[in-house]
Amino acid sequence: MSQLSGEQEHVHIAIVGSGPSGFYAAEALLRSDQNVAVTMIERLPTPFGLVRSGVAPDHPKLKQSILVYDRITRDENFNFLGNVTVGRDVSVSELQTMHHAIIFANGAQNDRHMGIQGENLPGSHTATEFVGWYNGHPDFRDRTFDLEQEVAVIVGHGNVAADVCRILAKSVDELRHTDIAEHALEALAQSRIKKIHVIGRRGPVQAKFTPKELRELGEIPGVRACADQQECNTAEQCDIELAAPTNTAAGKNLTLFLSYAGAAPTGAVRSILFQFYVSPVELHGTDYVEAITLSRNELTGSAFSQSAISSGVTETVPCGLVFRSIGYRGEPIDGLPFDVKRGVVPHDGGRVVDDKVGQPVPGLYVTGWIKRGPSGIIGTNRADSIETVESIIADLGGLTNTPKPGLAALRALLAERGIRTVSIEDWHTIDAKEIERGQKSGKPREKFTRVDEMLELLS
Ligand SMILES: Cc1cc2nc3c(=O)[nH]c(=O)nc-3n(C[C@H](O)[C@H](O)[C@H](O)COP(=O)(O)OP(=O)(O)OC[C@H]3O[C@@H](n4cnc5c(N)ncnc54)[C@H](O)[C@@H]3O)c2cc1C
Ligand SMILES: NC(=O)c1ccc[n+]([C@@H]2O[C@H](COP(=O)([O-])OP(=O)(O)OC[C@H]3O[C@@H](n4cnc5c(N)ncnc54)[C@H](OP(=O)(O)O)[C@@H]3O)[C@@H](O)[C@H]2O)c1
Repeated sequence: MSQLSGEQEHVHIAIVGSGPSGFYAAEALLRSDQNVAVTMIERLPTPFGLVRSGVAPDHPKLKQSILVYDRITRDENFNFLGNVTVGRDVSVSELQTMHHAIIFANGAQNDRHMGIQGENLPGSHTATEFVGWYNGHPDFRDRTFDLEQEVAVIVGHGNVAADVCRILAKSVDELRHTDIAEHALEALAQSRIKKIHVIGRRGPVQAKFTPKELRELGEIPGVRACADQQECNTAEQCDIELAAPTNTAAGKNLTLFLSYAGAAPTGAVRSILFQFYVSPVELHGTDYVEAITLSRNELTGSAFSQSAISSGVTETVPCGLVFRSIGYRGEPIDGLPFDVKRGVVPHDGGRVVDDKVGQPVPGLYVTGWIKRGPSGIIGTNRADSIETVESIIADLGGLTNTPKPGLAALRALLAERGIRTVSIEDWHTIDAKEIERGQKSGKPREKFTRVDEMLELLS
């Protein structure tokens, strides 16, 4: 229970990041019986994190959670401060002087590395860059991808790999009326890609695609999905995995892969080849990627903990583009404990833990991908944020002994530093303009892809 009274009655809580986990934390706080004032701080002028800049443009239904977030922004105790990067424009310790608690919901902004020779050759990209580019994220606006190449390799068998594959495989006519960024649509219209290898280090039973996403890859008009029948044969430990009642997705995936293995050749414009039990060991090329060497793997270990080990046999596949889609990775923020190995903030039930002393840091909390790592769909973040907010509410007695000034003080500090913050009303202006721009080309919106353009609109 808050110990505060009068003017100081509000419990001031800052949330860093405006993706799903940040919004679900705000929702849980605002629904609680505490007198909470929430300030959500976002480094971009636009809210919604990966729902805006990650979820694929041809999956508009999956962006509908924005309607829920929009309702949260209309709560009188909710404030949005966009265009503010915590750790650069304002430090964690400054935020602590102004708020009773801070929830870090800053996601996983970076990507994992394969750690192989040639990984940084031009033509070798991360899924993060490509996804950000086609979704109009300002950080990736000026990236270029040589779509003149005929063969692309995607490393990874997860849903992000499926998104990248679909965007590369689909014709632009199928993307034209989505909210895909115009620059990406123009580049994809010139694409000469014919073959996309989608490679996984383990087998078809361990692939992390959800069956719906995998099925979609087999249903793209003019595109043939293929797999090798022999690679779809399963051994004993895989059969145990398939028989588990909690693992029905694996069986559905296997059925789909088998149907791709049996598919008759067609006059397809493009093909997608799923390959299993292979790991990249080197990218070759002088000025640009020309080929990838893959080592053939065998699985070792028991059901559900099988890992891939190299058999020593290698094959080299000529290709001109490589996308690694092997998982995202959190980034440290100055003043916030960070587990470098796992790329997450160490925590106990959402309470940030200082690893050096093994104790929670009073007033610091974490949720979402920066808390549990880069896995889980939008909805997974809801339970995660509820857990964190329950910890905050349990701790409030100890946190609210000292009055804190909250948003007013933060605004004053940022104004003193000359930072043009973006309010929720400003976002509504950007939003309306994007929708208006989209109407001309039959798109739900035409996103602004540069921060300067957005700030200019607001000036
Ligand atoms: C490519 C891709 C596609 C996906 N598609 C789907 C899908 O179709 N359906 C589905 O259910 N799930 C999907 N997911 C998963 C889903 O997007 C995540 O579960 C979810 O976005 C994680 O939420 P988050 O709030 O932890 O992080 P994020 O959504 O990444 O939000 C973090 C926010 O913090 C901000 N931020 C970062 N650092 C700072 C800082 N220092 N200061 C201020 N702000 C900061 C970021 O700009 C961002 O807005 C997808 C994920 C990816 C990567
Ligand atoms: N439509 C949707 O609902 C949707 C869309 C996009 C993303 N998402 C969600 O977002 C989360 C993140 O997705 P993601 O695809 O980035 O991650 P993911 O599901 O964890 O998949 C990562 C893939 O990379 C492989 N990998 C990891 N390290 C590797 C290495 N060093 N070498 C080779 N391969 C490696 C993994 O193989 P191993 O299994 O062997 O580790 C796995 O196949 C997931 O929960 C996903 O479901 C959902």
